[in-house]
Amino acid sequence: MEVSTSFLSDKDYKKTILELNMTNTDYIHFDVMDGKFVENKNLSIKELITYLDLSTKKNDVHFMVNNPLKYIEKIYLYNIDYVTVHYEIKNLDKVIDKIKEYGLKVGVSLKPSTDVKEIFPYLDKINMVLIMSVVPGKSGQTFIEDSIDRVNELKEEIIKRKVSTKIEIDGGINDSVIDKLSNVDIVVSASYILNDYNNIDKIKRISA
Ligand code: DX5
Ligand code: ZN
Repeated sequence: MEVSTSFLSDKDYKKTILELNMTNTDYIHFDVMDGKFVENKNLSIKELITYLDLSTKKNDVHFMVNNPLKYIEKIYLYNIDYVTVHYEIKNLDKVIDKIKEYGLKVGVSLKPSTDVKEIFPYLDKINMVLIMSVVPGKSGQTFIEDSIDRVNELKEEIIKRKVSTKIEIDGGINDSVIDKLSNVDIVVSASYILNDYNNIDKIKRISA
């Protein structure tokens, strides 16, 4: 299992990214919020670029915004491995096509309230599904238990369709849930890891 560390719960983004560069995290997870798709608002396009520039890790960007293309057309040349947008936005098909045109790998994220079956028809045209295990918008929430069933149902379908779509999970991760997530490829965590960087290795050990 790979680990993607979010710095959303931290005050000093710059300091945390520089510290994460020195850790074993596989990815840095950039949460971008517009104050519309979710209540909170954080990074402007300019700030996002500044922070991407600081990272020496692989990066995955999670857009909790209504109009991700506005950002993506400005950032696609930066060091980004996955661009993840939400299933629940307008023009999803157009957004997926554009991200692919820019040569980036595309992820689609499902809110906890969205039926996991909705993403099945997309599985052969996207690179990753991000299962939200908390309501998107802030760090430090409690893991929603039925996310485990959603991951397992998704994995079954991926196998059935013989596709190589990755599964990422995001929200409320701690050591008590990791061993139930054997079908997950990339686990995202903010508070659990920022609390203690040794937890990166702990996740890798538990999931190995
Ligand atoms: C929540 C964000 C997450 C968040 C996870 O909307 O997408 O990436 O930072 O934070 P924790 O791990 O604290 O739940
Ligand atoms: Zn996220």
